[in-house]
Amino acid sequence: MAGLGTVGAGTLRLLHGNAELLAGRGGRPIAVDAVSARDRRKQRGSDLSAVRWFSDAKAMAADPAIDVVVELIGGADGIAFDVVKTALSHGKHVVTANKALMALHGTELARLAEAKGVALAFEAAVAGGIPIMKTLREGLAANRVARVYGILNGTSNFILTTMRESRRDFGEVLAEAQKLGYAEADPSFDIDGVDAAHKLAILTAVAFGTEVDFAGVYVEGIRHVSALDIEYAEELGFRIKLLGLARPTEHGIEQRVHPCMVARTTPIANVEGVFNAIMVEGDFCGRIMLEGRGAGAEPTASAVVADLLDIAAERRSPSFAVAASALRAQPASPMDRHRGAYYIRLMVLDRPGVIADVSAALRDEQVSMEAMIQRGRSPTEAVPVVLTTHETEEASMRRALGRIGSLSTVLEPPRMIRIESL
Ligand SMILES: NC(=O)c1ccc[n+]([C@@H]2O[C@H](COP(=O)([O-])OP(=O)(O)OC[C@H]3O[C@@H](n4cnc5c(N)ncnc54)[C@H](OP(=O)(O)O)[C@@H]3O)[C@@H](O)[C@H]2O)c1
Repeated sequence: MAGLGTVGAGTLRLLHGNAELLAGRGGRPIAVDAVSARDRRKQRGSDLSAVRWFSDAKAMAADPAIDVVVELIGGADGIAFDVVKTALSHGKHVVTANKALMALHGTELARLAEAKGVALAFEAAVAGGIPIMKTLREGLAANRVARVYGILNGTSNFILTTMRESRRDFGEVLAEAQKLGYAEADPSFDIDGVDAAHKLAILTAVAFGTEVDFAGVYVEGIRHVSALDIEYAEELGFRIKLLGLARPTEHGIEQRVHPCMVARTTPIANVEGVFNAIMVEGDFCGRIMLEGRGAGAEPTASAVVADLLDIAAERRSPSFAVAASALRAQPASPMDRHRGAYYIRLMVLDRPGVIADVSAALRDEQVSMEAMIQRGRSPTEAVPVVLTTHETEEASMRRALGRIGSLSTVLEPPRMIRIESL
């Protein structure tokens, strides 16, 4: 086991605590033979006195006595990549929780594993304790998937939920999330959508049999979501969620992560706090939703050890559901071609003709308005004007917003949140 941090320590606890049950289910005991981390003196909450210690995780990955290497260090490159590559090259099975690594190097590593005839398993990399990889790869294997989407980042979901419940702004709630340990000191991976994009890229590959294409994911985080937008969302019957969505389109595979307005009555709108959820729409199974804890020592360990059990029991399915050699490169559908409805919020000077100018910009770009809310009147201060549109192409919407944003009576850049029909 390389890495004994949150997930590593949790995995050790699970392997120890449930050892008998696991031996029964895997058909043989799972023994931790060697470990590696940075600091040998740190207490890990498990007795490691009989376990070999490696200060060099890469050397451990090449050790002939080891059957399976569990990589729980993290990071797309550097030591984690070296450890996984070394283990696979030496014909050892690999289990990892590393979404960054799989999002950036998944195809290459799966092909190496296949060439070496070993398993590369990463259930824990996507939505922690939710068994979505196994569900897609095995349970739903008979289906053509039309769309997969979900709440893939617990930190962002916690922040959006708390903002709504407490009517506070983003910065304040982020600070609270950091205090509670739900957000890192450097929260950018979570709140800027990168972590969700890593997971989405992996999900897409498994759902659609394509090469992992992290660069093809359109990413927008939640920093610009304001308490005011959340209030308007409520009024319009929506909740704002950071979703990752993927589907094949006529222009290629569409992969996007961004805040979405979703109808309050949909199941996903009611997945709150740190919880994650993933929806899969299959042609024969219909819609499936899995909800659970997407992070934390225990749920993530649950996924790591499920992968270990498959290896122990010699159950093997391809990492990305089809042979790695058969994964297809597919173009990424450009975001400009995305079609959907939009929520727009403007801060305007309440002068005659403002709404006419806004409407003209929308009309000229063939964007048709569905509803408009204007409340409060003040000729001297900015007042919010909120509008929603019918389905339109993103490129048209952006052109219209460019024009609207340059009107002298529009005092802030327009805020745009996509409305998803789910
Ligand atoms: N935390 C979660 O809830 C969660 C959920 C799903 C997936 N994941 C993924 O799981 C992986 C691990 O996350 P984590 O939260 O457990 O991270 P973490 O708590 O920071 O633990 C990282 C571990 O890696 C060790 N390490 C760092 N550099 C090393 C090196 N050069 N050689 C050997 N060991 C090294 C550290 O050693 P020291 O302890 O000695 O510093 C530490 O034990 C990441 O890929 C993460 O994305 C995490």
